[in-house]
Amino acid sequence: MQLTSSLPERIAVEPTSEKTTAVVELRDVGLCYAGRPPVQVLEGVNLSVRRGSFVSLIGPSGCGKSTLLRIVAGILPVTSGSVLVEGGSPLQAQRAHRFGFVFQDAALLPWRSVQENVELLGELVGLTPDERRDRSSALLSLVGLAGREHLRPSQLSGGMRQRVAIARALAINPSILLMDEPFSAVDEFQRELLNTELLRIWNDQRNSVLFVTHNIEEAVYLSDWVCVMSPNRGRIVELIPVELERPRASEVRVSPEFLALRSHLREVLVR
Ligand SMILES: Nc1ncnc2c1ncn2[C@@H]1O[C@H](COP(=O)(O)OP(=O)(O)O)[C@@H](O)[C@H]1O
Ligand SMILES: [Mg+2]
Repeated sequence: MQLTSSLPERIAVEPTSEKTTAVVELRDVGLCYAGRPPVQVLEGVNLSVRRGSFVSLIGPSGCGKSTLLRIVAGILPVTSGSVLVEGGSPLQAQRAHRFGFVFQDAALLPWRSVQENVELLGELVGLTPDERRDRSSALLSLVGLAGREHLRPSQLSGGMRQRVAIARALAINPSILLMDEPFSAVDEFQRELLNTELLRIWNDQRNSVLFVTHNIEEAVYLSDWVCVMSPNRGRIVELIPVELERPRASEVRVSPEFLALRSHLREVLVR
């Protein structure tokens, strides 16, 4: 298998692109946190994410992965370069509720039931109670939590809480899912299960996903493209296409193609 072959038709991320099919487009992005001294976290970052693709960002701690997600989400304005989300500004996309977020900590409201947590965003965007209930039931089934609607977050395991966070993120049908190390606080066994579940859900929903992780295996298993960021101002050192067949069974993790990609990624990361 070629690790840096030409772009497959269904998925494509290019370092730079003039194409309008990109759902997220970063051009020469720089980000400097104000302070004494100021901290230049990102510089010259170019990335184009095609609609419906699953892209992972991987890199050492502190290289700017979360910063990059915050920029895409319209939470942080860039200090140089430009960002387009669905052809507009990140802030416009945020206001149009185009994003779903999942973080390391599920951050559920403890006084609300599972179902009420999932319905929260629907309330904010004005869905009717019936619409909210239909959607939350469907999503809770999708994430494997049917029958647990009335439990409180404190009655769930860490993995179950992350499933609720995923259902909540999908509740307003976002076109872009931003996930920042969503499974890093669960054990290895749970992580594998959640990875498989996430792919099943993504297969059903087909949102575009930007997924931040430290975990090489997770990045390869989930992604169409793995984007390796350098500790040097977040520069993208390599974009690695993952051409493993979809849908991907968990067993793919022991295939020769998977193992080759994993060791290549490890080399790039320690280079
Ligand atoms: N609000 C902030 N002000 C100043 N520096 C920050 C701020 N947030 C993050 N940083 C710094 O920016 C760098 C990148 O942070 P972050 O994007 O969180 O990295 P990652 O998610 O890859 O671990 C780190 O060196 C961090 O200390
Ligand atoms: Mg981070």
